[in-house]
Amino acid sequence: MAENRVALVTGASSGIGRGIALRFGSRGMRVGLAARRDRRLKEVASQIEGSGGKALAFPGDVRDSAFAQRAVDTVVDAWGRIDILVNNAGIGHYALVEKLSDESVREQFEVNVFGPFYFTRAVGPHLKKQKSGQIVNIGSMAGLVGFARGTAYVATKWALTVNDVVHAVETIVDQGPNSDIREIVVQVRDRS
Ligand SMILES: NC(=O)c1ccc[n+]([C@@H]2O[C@H](COP(=O)([O-])OP(=O)(O)OC[C@H]3O[C@@H](n4cnc5c(N)ncnc54)[C@H](OP(=O)(O)O)[C@@H]3O)[C@@H](O)[C@H]2O)c1
Repeated sequence: MAENRVALVTGASSGIGRGIALRFGSRGMRVGLAARRDRRLKEVASQIEGSGGKALAFPGDVRDSAFAQRAVDTVVDAWGRIDILVNNAGIGHYALVEKLSDESVREQFEVNVFGPFYFTRAVGPHLKKQKSGQIVNIGSMAGLVGFARGTAYVATKWALTVNDVVHAVETIVDQGPNSDIREIVVQVRDRS
């Protein structure tokens, strides 16, 4: 039953993450919302509460592993479980390689790869204790193919995809073939 489920969505302050969080909320789910912009998170939270769901806002940066741990643990403390983690927060800076700064490359990897790693690591013990749950990584078609001026972004989405597949296999090996813990990557296609 969707309404009994608990989710945590990163990058819930705008775009795809906001849409996912609102959809979960409209189905009566309890949703944790993570992103940096507090005011936007509060708006999403109040829309969810208005549509019959429950929400908790976690303003913070997914590049901070302590923040990921705190958000996951607070969701579990508040609602007793966590069924779905959506690693959605992501950024892309598109330019020729020689125009990409150190900071830009580092930031893209920290948000798009390290962030999902921190949240996945934090949620793992809870899913194993429950013996169920889903991790959904929001990838990109760039994680399957590639495009000019997208080197760093494309590399982050390939890394996210490989991490996802290897961790999914690791979970099956660790938990057995009948495990009800699943991990998928959704390769979103650009709107344009
Ligand atoms: N839209 C597309 O066409 C498309 C295509 C392929 C893949 N995708 C993927 O889909 C995901 C969402 O994209 P979108 O288009 O919805 O982007 P968006 O509207 O720009 O939203 C990005 C979200 O990530 C959050 N975020 C960024 N950096 C963060 C950080 N350091 N810490 C915490 N949160 C952070 C932002 O929140 P704050 O700024 O409030 O922190 C925002 O909520 C991304 O992973 C993207 O790569 C999108």
